[in-house]
Amino acid sequence: MSHVIEIDGLTKDYQVGFWRKRQVRALDGLSLSVERGEIFGFLGANGAGKTTTIKLLMRLIYPSEGRASILDHDISDVSMHARIGYLPEHPYFYDYLTARELLEYCGELFGYRRRERRERAAAMLARVRLDEKSWDKQLRKFSKGMLQRVGLAQALVNNPEVVFLDEPMSGLDPIGRREVRDLIASLRTVGTTVFLCSHILADIEVLCDRAAILQRGRLAHLGRIEDLRQLGSGDHSMEIVVADADARRMESALATLEGVHITATPGGARIEVSSEGDVDAALRAARSCGARLVSVNRIGSALEELFVNDGGVGKYSSDG
Ligand SMILES: Nc1ncnc2c1ncn2[C@@H]1O[C@H](COP(=O)(O)OP(=O)(O)OP(=O)(O)O)[C@@H](O)[C@H]1O
Ligand SMILES: [Mg+2]
Repeated sequence: MSHVIEIDGLTKDYQVGFWRKRQVRALDGLSLSVERGEIFGFLGANGAGKTTTIKLLMRLIYPSEGRASILDHDISDVSMHARIGYLPEHPYFYDYLTARELLEYCGELFGYRRRERRERAAAMLARVRLDEKSWDKQLRKFSKGMLQRVGLAQALVNNPEVVFLDEPMSGLDPIGRREVRDLIASLRTVGTTVFLCSHILADIEVLCDRAAILQRGRLAHLGRIEDLRQLGSGDHSMEIVVADADARRMESALATLEGVHITATPGGARIEVSSEGDVDAALRAARSCGARLVSVNRIGSALEELFVNDGGVGKYSSDG
């Protein structure tokens, strides 16, 4: 057994409209497999079908077509749920419970004895770095970032072999993101398989071995992160930030360059050129207006290109 998750032609049509007569295809024939111990990235823009896929796998909704298995059990066999973990996109907990009570309750659902429940709850809350002072506070008093941590603790309480995380970094501040990133990376060392949904490329790029990119319900790309990077075209828009310059004056100085966008900023301007080759010319023109260089940055990454490019896919809703 090498494939921990196997997805074969998974399709989901939602019935929409007042009479539920119109169909929207949210997921269209998805096939892929995830290997044991892998951190697998599942990327896609808003509305691409990531959450739909996870909900299908978690048996919260039912497929229109196709099948999938987790740990060699068909997804209809929910007995395997004892061996997996799941962090929903918008975790909602009974919010009069405290963090500790919630986790002990989860432990009870998994059949742990009282003492083990207590130990596990504490260990998990510590692991997701929830401040110990908050362990006995009611969840309704928690911030979004704190709830996200409780959600993660809940997803890991049964030491799952596979964990499904739907946007685990959402709502976290920069330090929180880094901590959660480290936590996910640490799952690799204990051999947990991670299915990580995100629309944030940077998180996927640092954490994942392989990734799938979903575009409007269809699998657009699948492969190792390095290989996906190579698929991008290589030419990128660049951003030049300057100070002490008048945006108006620069507008005319840069008029001969094609594909240039100038935005006035407090105390300067931001110049966007469509190709790296135009940076020198743009800088020269900006300097001739007395501008001082603040920074030059590449906009986006090769992976980002795959993410937003619409590989010529067609129409996804059908009127029924
Ligand atoms: N219950 C529903 N009824 C009808 N359409 C739905 C339903 N749930 C999702 N959709 C549609 O299915 C498509 C995919 O949605 P999904 O939530 O899976 O996207 P996502 O990739 O998770 O996006 P996000 O990054 O915003 O979370 C969207 O077009 C959405 O409008
Ligand atoms: Mg989603």
